[in-house]
Amino acid sequence: MVVTGGASGIGAAVAERLASHGAEVALLDRDEVALRRVVDRISTRGERAAAFCVDVTDAEALERAVDEFTGRTGRLDVLVTSAGIQRYGDVLETSRALWDEVLAVNVTGTFLAARACLPALRRSRRGAVVVVSSVQGAASQTGVVAYAASKGALGAFARAMALDEARHGVRVNSVSPGSVETPMLRASAERFGGAAGADELLDRWGRAHPLGRLATPDEVASVVAFLASEDAAFVTGEDVRVDGGLLAGIPVLLPEPGRSGGEPEAPR
Ligand SMILES: NC(=O)c1ccc[n+]([C@@H]2O[C@H](COP(=O)([O-])OP(=O)(O)OC[C@H]3O[C@@H](n4cnc5c(N)ncnc54)[C@H](O)[C@@H]3O)[C@@H](O)[C@H]2O)c1
Repeated sequence: MVVTGGASGIGAAVAERLASHGAEVALLDRDEVALRRVVDRISTRGERAAAFCVDVTDAEALERAVDEFTGRTGRLDVLVTSAGIQRYGDVLETSRALWDEVLAVNVTGTFLAARACLPALRRSRRGAVVVVSSVQGAASQTGVVAYAASKGALGAFARAMALDEARHGVRVNSVSPGSVETPMLRASAERFGGAAGADELLDRWGRAHPLGRLATPDEVASVVAFLASEDAAFVTGEDVRVDGGLLAGIPVLLPEPGRSGGEPEAPR
């Protein structure tokens, strides 16, 4: 199993969960120190993980890592793409360089990881790809045009790939998390927390979800693990929201106390 972005947040939780199910997991990430920390944690439990320090925008490095891993394991059944970055700005605030950076990591990096893994996934005849998208692929907030565009592209990419790969026995699905307590979300909260601070903003974002809190990375990982497993053998081309009910609601609330679906804001 290959997990991109495996050094942190959702990717790390996915890698830990898949390893705990007995799989040998390759963690691909550009953050060498964080990568080593997660792989050591998995190995200490007697489970199997390998670290590959790779930038997902580097097609050759990705292919080398995947070839080395599959050369050793002999097969590859699962790819999870979680490497991603968040950047901010409306159209005029978004420079060409920033736009290119977000699309390169979030979209091209996912495409390149899929390209590197696909020959082995097809050979396995029961391969599964899970793309980590976001609720931002379907609904948005202000000031995130590049990120939202990248997540919209990922949903379309996963659907299109699912159709192409069905005849090869490879299933392709995506998950769309709401706000998940990870370093990425905390960085956003630190940037926008103002006088009230990051913790208060994280709390408010959590309360904006009908379930009243942020998700843990493992609550996303459990859905990813299901989609990657044979329990989801007839599921392909699907996007599963893991958003605490965020996109089930509209921010136009009835006045009676207790009838509302939460505060009218959708942070991520
Ligand atoms: N945290 C949330 O609230 C949230 C919500 C919806 C979707 N997501 C998505 O989930 C995914 C994981 O996010 P997270 O919150 O766990 O973030 P995170 O920052 O904790 O982890 C992202 C990981 O991706 C790695 N990465 C970034 N660019 C890379 C590159 N070019 N090459 C290799 N590795 C790279 C980082 O080093 C990091 O380890 C992202 O795609 C993000 O858009 C997150």
